[in-house]
Amino acid sequence: MTDLPSPTQPRSGRPRVFVTRYLPGPALSMLRAAVELVGNVEDRSLSREELLAGVPGVDGLLCIPADRIDAEVMDAVGPSLRVVSNYAVGYDNIDVPAATARGILVTNTPGVLTETTADLAWTLILGASRRVSEGDALVRRGDFHGIYPTYMLGRDVHGKTLGIVGMGRIGAAAARRAVGFDMPVLYTRRSGPLPADSAPAGASWRWCAELDELLAASDIVSVHVPLAPETRHLIGARELGLMRPGSVLVNTARGAVVDESALVQALRRGPLGAAGLDVYEHEPRLAEGLAELPNTLLLPHVGSATVETRGSMAELAARNAIAALRGEPVPHPVNPDVLGRPAGR
Ligand code: GLV
Repeated sequence: MTDLPSPTQPRSGRPRVFVTRYLPGPALSMLRAAVELVGNVEDRSLSREELLAGVPGVDGLLCIPADRIDAEVMDAVGPSLRVVSNYAVGYDNIDVPAATARGILVTNTPGVLTETTADLAWTLILGASRRVSEGDALVRRGDFHGIYPTYMLGRDVHGKTLGIVGMGRIGAAAARRAVGFDMPVLYTRRSGPLPADSAPAGASWRWCAELDELLAASDIVSVHVPLAPETRHLIGARELGLMRPGSVLVNTARGAVVDESALVQALRRGPLGAAGLDVYEHEPRLAEGLAELPNTLLLPHVGSATVETRGSMAELAARNAIAALRGEPVPHPVNPDVLGRPAGR
């Protein structure tokens, strides 16, 4: 796997952390200074077999969203496992109830990627509305022969109504950007309306008690809810059918929040005009027909992928793991209930 010590080599006496993939920024040096680092620090994916073979006896796991950390992995580690530090804000790749049942702390990296992901949501809002991928492809293949009045007509973004599904950190950051485009914002939020002073000056934000109301009244809908059993296919064929003719759907959250096959139909037959997607239901596979649709802008899950943000996420993931193993306050625990409970089972 790497030139790092394998789990069968003698232990240094320091807690051992298995990293599933190379991390940018100072994270690996921080980990090397604080723990015994094992695993895969190469920039290549780790197979399930390599993961299961590499983890027995480690104290911590630092993983990425592409790793499925379920009960099988936790049991392959054994009772030594104290923390699973996810290099992501979303943690649907981790079986949190299984971790909690075993007294294992799960951590994530919220906050540091908020603005970067909101920037990408706007990249998709603008790009899908103005047919950016179609235009770019057309120019590259030599099919640009001059403009005419009906050429490559997209849809205005400014002045339209933006629907934010899930007004959490990232949803609110996307909503704040709408002020510059003179766009009223409708939003759903599990815990109810935000205090009136949460909106920036000049903004018009209105809470919708029902998702249906938001879908029917928005021109552009941007999805920002985490994937959980209750949000899987939150936007399915029925919900897509409620959207306005020519409306635009953007998803930078998790693919499975939207029923991707139903989305393909809604883009083919209406009512949707376009979609901008960064995430897919069966990532990295796409639903049949999606890639052939001209009215889509498709990105490869790069919401937080900037040099600055990926470095900050790695650092935070390292800090979470180190703090948990030292028994210090953990910056971002997902299941804080396990803190204070004896380590292991
Ligand atoms: C990336 O997808 C994340 O959840 O941080």
